[in-house]
This record gives sequence, structure tokens and C-alpha cells, in this order.
Amino acid sequence: MDSLVIEGGFPLHGTVRVSGAKNAALPILCASLLTDGACTFRNVPRLRDVETMAALLRFMGAETVVEPPQVQVAGASVRRPEAPYELVKKMRASVLVLGPLVARHGRAKVSLPGGCAIGARPIDQHLKGLEAMGAKITLEHGYVLAECARLKGASIQLDMATVTGTENLMMAAALAKGRTQLVGAAKEPEVEELARVLNKMGARVDGAGTDIIHIEGVDTLHGVDHAIIPDRIEAGTFMIAAATAGGDVLVEGAVPEHVEPFSGRMRTAGVEVTREEGGLRVRSPGARGLRAIDITTAPHPGFPTDMQAQFMALMTLAQGASVVTESVFENRFMHVPELNRMGANIEVRGRVAIVNGVDGLSSAAVMATDLRASACLVIAGLVATGQTEVLRVYHLDRGYEAIEAKLAPLGARIRRVRAAT
Ligand code: EPU
Repeated sequence: MDSLVIEGGFPLHGTVRVSGAKNAALPILCASLLTDGACTFRNVPRLRDVETMAALLRFMGAETVVEPPQVQVAGASVRRPEAPYELVKKMRASVLVLGPLVARHGRAKVSLPGGCAIGARPIDQHLKGLEAMGAKITLEHGYVLAECARLKGASIQLDMATVTGTENLMMAAALAKGRTQLVGAAKEPEVEELARVLNKMGARVDGAGTDIIHIEGVDTLHGVDHAIIPDRIEAGTFMIAAATAGGDVLVEGAVPEHVEPFSGRMRTAGVEVTREEGGLRVRSPGARGLRAIDITTAPHPGFPTDMQAQFMALMTLAQGASVVTESVFENRFMHVPELNRMGANIEVRGRVAIVNGVDGLSSAAVMATDLRASACLVIAGLVATGQTEVLRVYHLDRGYEAIEAKLAPLGARIRRVRAAT
């Protein structure tokens, strides 16, 4: 697998452009299964996860052409409403085909995703919602089998604000007979974006972005042409990179309202974040000006769990001790031992990490088995003295479009070392 080699200690200056949002693109690609009309999606990021989703759509029979930043799904003529283990194990978001398949094809066979590096991540809420809409669900040989000639609208109370669960049920309800009410829905910008696309396709979704979503089912949906919103987590990763490495960076395409849950915390920590035409500008206060602050991850509009690792990299150099609480996933601190190997002083007690600020980080060979943990290590590498090698960048490539090609023009000394084939 490729690795990234980073020479630390060079501040970042200039402008970086954010790509389309991974976690919006993945459900939106699945929404194409709800219609036989042609779908064109623009501003789709060039990512391994997008390739995996396209491979899954093709496996099922949908003609899918990926020409980043554009993806076309030409009239999803699904012959095989199935998501095999080989693809689902590469990417959990594959489970997002479940709702659309049952809604439009009356049946689906989708591999259970199982646990992953950050937690057990069950899909009981997805299944409970589909059952409430009349689907017969059976679990067999590691697969979910769901069947229903026509789903019926239902009132569904989610036990937690699950993002992909809300998306799956919203897509299923779009073609159900009658009205569905999702209570306790996730409010993430990506959920709102999916609702926008569904409505453009002829669906009647109301209330996305709040915790109660109403969906009035329709008989058919048509094709769509849609440009995907910028990736708030990629934006945040560059914002934290600039704040940690030092310097002054304009993050072009960052949507202020989407990043507010962490940009507000960055300001409290002493980082200057200002709105500019087309994006957000981040000026680092330097390590001496960085205050340790506490954060607790929570569903939107709380502090996003997908920014926790990157924020922790920033806090390693702050003045004082910061308490980082991970309340969304049970095991999302795998970056901690690696940061400590780089000279950080972090102690983990269950779901809480205490980050005692240090004067500097030093380079090491590091790796992580989670996307955001890997991003955190790249950020640490940008400020550490010496040469850091981030191994197994496979995970980074799942969610960041050419991260080294975006950081290098800002002044980062970063290069990819290709694995020998
Ligand atoms: N949960 C259940 N039962 C369910 C569904 C979720 O117990 O049926 C639990 C999960 O185990 C977790 C919590 O609820 O503890 C929240 O999980 P959620 O379902 O919201 O996560 P997800 O939909 O699987 C999406 C993102 C993740 C992001 C989380 C939280 C996509 C494709 N993935 O996952 O993104 O961390 O929401 O915001 O949208 C990433 O991009 O690095 C990433 C992991």
C-alpha cells in the first residue's frame, strides 16, 4: 500500500479548494436506484468509496460511468438487487442500497456490514424502520433479506439519530404508499442534501434538517441532474491543518453554516476563522496562542465525530489540558497511541481522552486503520520535526481526494510513495 512522507515544520499559505462531500455523494448515488430515469451527478469527489459504490451499482445492473467530478447512472435497470459481502466489507455505506432496492424492486439481499475499526455499528434502526413499512426481514448467512411488494408509509421513531439509517428510510419512504413520519431523524447537512435530490426527482420530503421528517410517498421518480455540496469534513481537515501547522489558508468552498459546529470551537481555542468570499480563512495563532478546550462529539449540530481525531492533533500543542469525549462511536481513539509515539501526551479513559499540551511533536512512522485517524496523523506530520511516514494511506484515499496534491501547493513538504506492485 502507498504511504505519505511528510517533512514537518513548514507553515501553510494560500488557497485550497474543497471537493464534493463523500457522505452526500454515497447516498445520492444510491438514490439513482429509485428511478429508471438518467441521473447525472456533478461535483462528485474522486475517491475510492465512490468507485466502490459505482462497482456496486454496476454489479446490480445499473450502467454507471464515473468521470470525476461527474458520475452518470443511466436508467438503473437492476437485474440483481443484491449487495455482496465482497463489496460491503470494503465500504459500510453499501448498506444504503437496502431502502431503495426494497422500495423499487420489492426485494433486496444485502450483506450485513458487521463491526469496523471504530465500533460495532449495527443497522437495527434501518431494519426496524423497513419492518414498520411492511417489509419482511430475515437474516441468513450474514445477509439481510428484505421483501415487500409495496412499502407502506409508517410512523417511525428512531432510537438514535443515525445518519445512514435516516437516509435509507427516507429513500424507502419516497416510493412507499402513503405518508411516513421519521421521528428522531439525523439532521446532518448530508441528510438535507439527499432530501433536496429526492425532491428534484419528484419525491415529497419535508423537514429534512430537523428531527422530524415527513415523506409523502409517490408512485414514480424521474432522473435528475445535481451538483453535490462541498465536503464539510474535508474543509475542516484543511482548517485544522492550517491551524496546527501554522500559516494562513483560505479554504475555498467551505460552507460556514456546515462547519460552524467545529469552526466555533476553533475560535474558542484561539484560531482566527473568518468568512471570505467563497470560503473561510484560517489564521493560526501559533502554538503559544493556542488554548486547550474541551469537546464532546454529538450528532449534528454537535461537534462531528468525523472531526474529533483532527481536532485532537491540534490540541496536542495547545496550552493546558483538553478533554475530548467521543460519544458517537465506542472505539474511535486509534490515533491516540500513534500521536503519543510522535511525542503527544494523551491518556485515554474509556470514551474520554485527556490531551495534555506539549511543546512539539517529533516524526515517526505511523499508521491507522480509520479514515479520520489517518487524516489526524497527516496533520501531526505537518508540524512534527523531521520526516513522518504515514503508512497504509488506503484509508485516506477512501475519503480524501489527493490530499497530498492539495496540501503541497500550500507549502507542505508531502509526497506519496507508491507501493511496489
Ligand atoms: N447505530 C445503531 N443502530 C443503527 C444505526 C446506528 O446502534 O441502526 C449507532 C452506531 O453504532 C453509532 C451511532 O448510532 O454508534 C451513530 O451512527 P450512524 O448510523 O449515524 O453512522 P453511519 O450512518 O453508519 C455516518 C457517516 C460516518 C459518520 C457517522 C456519524 C456516512 C456514509 N457515514 O455513518 O462517516 O461518522 O455517520 O456522523 O455517511 C467517515 O466519513 O469517516 C464516517 C465514518
